[in-house]
Amino acid sequence: MKIFRSVMMAAGFGVLASTAMIVHAQDAAAKRGMAKFNHSCAPCHGKGPGNDGKKMLPGTDSLRIKYQGSLPAPLEERKDLTADAIKTFVRLGSSAMPPFRKTELTDAEIVDIAAYLKYSSSHL
Ligand code: HEC
Repeated sequence: MKIFRSVMMAAGFGVLASTAMIVHAQDAAAKRGMAKFNHSCAPCHGKGPGNDGKKMLPGTDSLRIKYQGSLPAPLEERKDLTADAIKTFVRLGSSAMPPFRKTELTDAEIVDIAAYLKYSSSHL
């Protein structure tokens, strides 16, 4: 019985330790993604005002018009965007949004951006 208990405790610690490692890895990805988002996406998709006198930046404003309130306009508030969906838009571009080549933004960096958007939208 004593052995059983210590085995169970060891298993419990193992689960805790690996969960902590996964959380740590996700945090690291979200942190890298935040830096990339701020550099490559926030100039159009940030929450601030546009520098042309408009109340919103062009990406945020276009998505506000597109979704009419059914989804949040700032990407940092979207919970529905998967890494694959983001990758499609980023590689192809969309109206005023330019496509990004792999030399500008790698697939791994897009996955990091997706991790950041997942993090930011769940910590509003
Ligand atoms: C030059 C401005 C600009 C930049 C830079 C930009 N975007 Fe966009 N993005 C837009 C605009 C404008 C739209 C809306 C296009 C439309 O109306 O179809 C858009 C649309 C999107 C969409 C589609 C969302 C939806 O639900 O339709 C995603 C996802 C997206 N952008 C992600 C990104 C990411 C990630 C980056 C950074 C790597 C980025 N964008 C950089 C302007 C930009």
